[in-house]
Amino acid sequence: MALLIRNTGGRYGWIAILLHWSVGLLFIGQIVLGLVMVRTTSQRSAFELIQLHKSFGFLLFGLILLRLGWRLANVTPRLPAETGLLERRAAPAAHFALYALQLVLPLTGWALVSASVLEIPTMPFDLFVMPNLPVPISDAAEGWWRVVHVYLAYAAIVLVAVHVLAALRHHFWLRDIILVRMISPSRRCDDDGPE
Ligand code: HEM
Ligand code: HEM
Repeated sequence: MALLIRNTGGRYGWIAILLHWSVGLLFIGQIVLGLVMVRTTSQRSAFELIQLHKSFGFLLFGLILLRLGWRLANVTPRLPAETGLLERRAAPAAHFALYALQLVLPLTGWALVSASVLEIPTMPFDLFVMPNLPVPISDAAEGWWRVVHVYLAYAAIVLVAVHVLAALRHHFWLRDIILVRMISPSRRCDDDGPE
């Protein structure tokens, strides 16, 4: 039996599935952590939560680079034959935007802490000191990167919500295999041509 590691024309392989769910869940957790930490009134807790947000941000960034590499080295499974024209156009555009946000969010977060005049070292999970990005250091620069990071995070919240609703619509309303094939590679579009 094939190991089902790589994607084919009809299904996602195990690596794409594992990367989708690990990055997806960490990404949603990272958004929740970000929203909570900036609203925490205790200064000490806020500081510790921000250090955690930075650590998970870098962990995510590593996984996202792996995910992008795997995406580029694999084919993308086709949509089921009955998918409408609008969704055939919208789905790749939405997935492209989600990939772009996954790349740009950690980078703008990294730029934001690199631009800070406080120069608090970033130590992912207390393991090592992460070097800063070569960006200008000033309150104005930090403020600019903060605005970019926060608005991109809000855009990600909207897009992820639409993405999850679309997946649920496929599963419960259209009753096709879109959600199930992102859970197990044994489910594939086998009704519309070979792998
Ligand atoms: C996929 C990765 C990331 C996501 C989804 C994300 C998301 C968020 C969100 C939702 C907020 C709160 C926005 C608000 O309501 O004000 C936030 C704030 C913040 N993020 Fe991230 N973030 C990510 C990566 C990073 C990284 C890698 C760093 C730094 C190394 C970072 C540093 C910060 C900081 C310092 C703030 C607080 C900004 C402030 O002072 O208002 N983030 N992030
Ligand atoms: C937890 C809720 C989530 C559910 C139920 C879900 C569901 C799905 C499903 C069913 C697909 C397959 C679409 C297809 O076959 O064409 C998919 C693909 C995708 N998802 Fe999610 N997803 C979730 C979270 C996320 C998050 C948080 C992100 C972004 C950080 C994300 C990014 C993507 C991307 C980029 C693809 C396209 C994969 C590719 O073809 O390379 N997903 N998702």
